[in-house]
Amino acid sequence: MRAVVLVGGFGTRLLPLTLSIPKPMLPVGHVPIIERLVAQLGRGGISDVTLALGFKPEPFVEAFPSGECGGVALHYAVEPQPLDTAGAIRFAATASGIDETFVVVNGDVLTDLDVAQLVRFHRDRGAEATLHLIAVPDPSAFGVVALDGEDRVERFVEKPAPGTAPSNLVNAGTYVLEPSVLRRIPGDEKISIERATFPAIADGRGLFGLATDDYWIDTGQPEFYLQANLDVLAGLRRNDRCQAVHPDANVDGTATIENALIGPGATVGAGAVVRRTVVLSGAAIGEGAAVTDSVIMGQVGPNASVHDCVIGATGVIGSGEHLHHQRRPQPAPK
Ligand code: GDD
Ligand code: MG
Repeated sequence: MRAVVLVGGFGTRLLPLTLSIPKPMLPVGHVPIIERLVAQLGRGGISDVTLALGFKPEPFVEAFPSGECGGVALHYAVEPQPLDTAGAIRFAATASGIDETFVVVNGDVLTDLDVAQLVRFHRDRGAEATLHLIAVPDPSAFGVVALDGEDRVERFVEKPAPGTAPSNLVNAGTYVLEPSVLRRIPGDEKISIERATFPAIADGRGLFGLATDDYWIDTGQPEFYLQANLDVLAGLRRNDRCQAVHPDANVDGTATIENALIGPGATVGAGAVVRRTVVLSGAAIGEGAAVTDSVIMGQVGPNASVHDCVIGATGVIGSGEHLHHQRRPQPAPK
């Protein structure tokens, strides 16, 4: 079976990390998100993945020069301009000649869902489209569904105002679609599957949802990107594990690394303390610095203290500086 993976968004909520690396190429447990995601699809019986690319396509093509990732064949569809989720799915599916039941995945979602289970459920229901659903405490940042007693989606509401969500079951970003869904999407224009297509399919009684309690996280915000890394480290993923300190990292023997990941080529100086943090490839933590609850791509000077911060590749924290709840460089105001 074939899948389209949406990887063309701007990754705005992860700025400044996404200034240099598109969101799905950011590592989780030292391996790019997209690689973990495609491997999981492969385990569920997906043979071919078309990456629906837009913003910054080159890093993807360069990362998989053989056109293959963990035994899954990769194809690329680069949009001439951002088409939003439905437009991107139509563009990518058409470009790769998809004309039978297929799978779609948001490129920032990591889950232990067995996609073969979702496909079986879809076929058993005779659905036009089927969503993977997850129960969350606050559904307002997601697409939210109301289900009837037969797993049919009666209503799909994207990002409802707080307090107005019809349930706590949210769209977990993995879909099984019939090719008829593509004919509902007008060509070459910006259109959202969540705001336009799913509500229309629900109106025609063809939209179904399968709720599971599999591991699931949307890595698209800094606290969740950090959490996804700590979860792999803690062994919470069924098939994925990682080491805290990558063998190609350079960590001084007197540094303290606690519940943190240090990527290849990163350095941590003498006496530094790093907790609940991801230090990415190429980053440097100076001697005696204390870094907690943060994601670091840039440079932290000696004896600096950094808490709850996101530091991009060009971010520099001066020697002895104290930084709390900030991003460097600061994203430009909209
Ligand atoms: N190719 C392409 N073109 N991809 C796009 C575009 C586009 O114009 N716009 C967004 N994407 C990709 C993003 O890169 C991401 O992988 C995926 O589409 C979803 O976009 P997000 O920006 O991450 O959406 P979200 O997290 O706010 O909400 C979505 O995911 C939630 C679950 O994590 C929605 O599908 C929600 O309904 C859902 O609950
Ligand atoms: Mg997302």
